[in-house]
Amino acid sequence: MRIVRTVEEMKAVSREHRARGKRIGFVPTMGSLHEGHLSLVRASRERTDTTVVSIFVNPAQFGPGDDLASYPRDLERDAALLEKEGVDYVFHPEPSGMYPEGFGTFVEVGDLQDRLCGHSRPGHFRGVCTVVLKLFNIVRPDAAFFGWKDAQQVIILRRMAADLDLDVRIEALPLVRDADGLALSSRNRHLSPEERGAALVLSRSLEDARRRVEEGEKDPGAVVRGVAEAVAIEPLARLDYVEAVDPVSLRPLDRIDGEALIAMAVYVGRTRLIDNIRIAPAGKG
Ligand code: PAJ
Repeated sequence: MRIVRTVEEMKAVSREHRARGKRIGFVPTMGSLHEGHLSLVRASRERTDTTVVSIFVNPAQFGPGDDLASYPRDLERDAALLEKEGVDYVFHPEPSGMYPEGFGTFVEVGDLQDRLCGHSRPGHFRGVCTVVLKLFNIVRPDAAFFGWKDAQQVIILRRMAADLDLDVRIEALPLVRDADGLALSSRNRHLSPEERGAALVLSRSLEDARRRVEEGEKDPGAVVRGVAEAVAIEPLARLDYVEAVDPVSLRPLDRIDGEALIAMAVYVGRTRLIDNIRIAPAGKG
């Protein structure tokens, strides 16, 4: 496994692999890797010839009040995990290599970027789309692997790829959870043991929501209120949002009778956690 630190070197590696007819699989990450990330790496290893994983804590997707400075970083541990998975290249550029003096071009994905997490993290998806498009141009992958943990991110990146005619297949893999249901996240490292317990309110309340819909509840308001009430009685948790939306347009649903995405964000102490479920009502699963 080789660690590549400059844009030029990464482009050269990609050029060489493509010239040899290799299909490149790409897994973009911000590091501090866990089984969720590794599930994407394994999919890439199975479905492509050469796997590139990027580790880059992207300043452009963090707002002024966000956790850029405290975002967990551990390159040595990450590299050891990736080496064990048989990854071919780790792309680990410096922020100044990705955003040199004078950088001024950003990608925006219309109305999708302002929904759900867009309310409390303005500019976040603009930063995500910009860095992902740059990474695609540097790595030139045939397929790129993302997790449904960040459902809005998947939906927005698919829109970007379609709108800008990108030659990359966006593959989305299931959300990986801990045995007790907590969605794996690099930010879980910030949780105290008490907060870790309180954080279970996300997955638990979403599972209740799923059960209600499967039992025939069609009113998104009722489903979402159930989730909000569960969060309200958890003293260490504060709801940012919970919404039942159409999984393509991300618009709030009037009625649940096709597919639905129920997505939420909750502050547990100072840590903001997200979770979601995708559901189909009884008889349409
Ligand atoms: P990061 O949060 O490091 O996540 C990298 C990838 O791992 C994303 O596609 C994310 O959805 C996936 N992932 C994280 N936790 C997961 C889980 N529990 N189950 C399944 N997949 C999971 O998402 C980003 O980084 C950044 O926004 C990035 C795309 C790298 C752009 O900077």
